[in-house]
Amino acid sequence: MIRIRKALPSDAGELSRISRESLADHWSEEAFLSHLEGADSIILLAEDSCTAGFICASKEGETLYIESIAVSSEYRRQGTGAQLVSALHRMHPECDTVLDVRTSNSSAISFYEHLGFERLCIRRRMYSSPAEDGITMKMKCLH
Ligand SMILES: CC(C)(COP(=O)(O)OP(=O)(O)OC[C@H]1O[C@@H](n2cnc3c(N)ncnc32)[C@H](O)[C@@H]1OP(=O)(O)O)[C@@H](O)C(=O)NCCC(=O)NCCS
Repeated sequence: MIRIRKALPSDAGELSRISRESLADHWSEEAFLSHLEGADSIILLAEDSCTAGFICASKEGETLYIESIAVSSEYRRQGTGAQLVSALHRMHPECDTVLDVRTSNSSAISFYEHLGFERLCIRRRMYSSPAEDGITMKMKCLH
């Protein structure tokens, strides 16, 4: 059974492995360690017998910004990503949640729309390697 917990510095290697396997804009172990040190940074991890996925976010005022989320391919379409977003919301139910996603990432866009995120705007060429537009999406707070 999947359990969600806060990530620890000792998880940085596994987080980086899943990020590298799943994302064009992946984070190194050092990037995860640095994020873990941030006062307004949140990293939640999903695990059963091994690490299944993670969500990284930062809180600015009344807004949570999802910076990265990934689930290992063998754990996808089993509700793990939804559990990670839900656990983040439970930590800060007073916050709206915002994120950016590559326009080509149709599976992630479907995932976010399934969870109730709405498209706010297109941000031209916000990504590099490869260069691509981003879509900003937002979910209003649960209150
Ligand atoms: C996006 C991601 C985190 C979703 O994680 P997940 O654990 O597979 O998602 P869930 O199982 O919680 O999916 C919940 C719902 O979202 C939608 N959804 C999820 N993946 C989808 C896909 N590939 N295609 C269409 N809809 C999808 C479905 O409605 C799904 O419900 P269902 O399985 O009952 O139909 C995962 O696919 C992933 O790690 N992708 C690679 C990394 C990435 O692109 N991250 C986002 C960067 S912005």
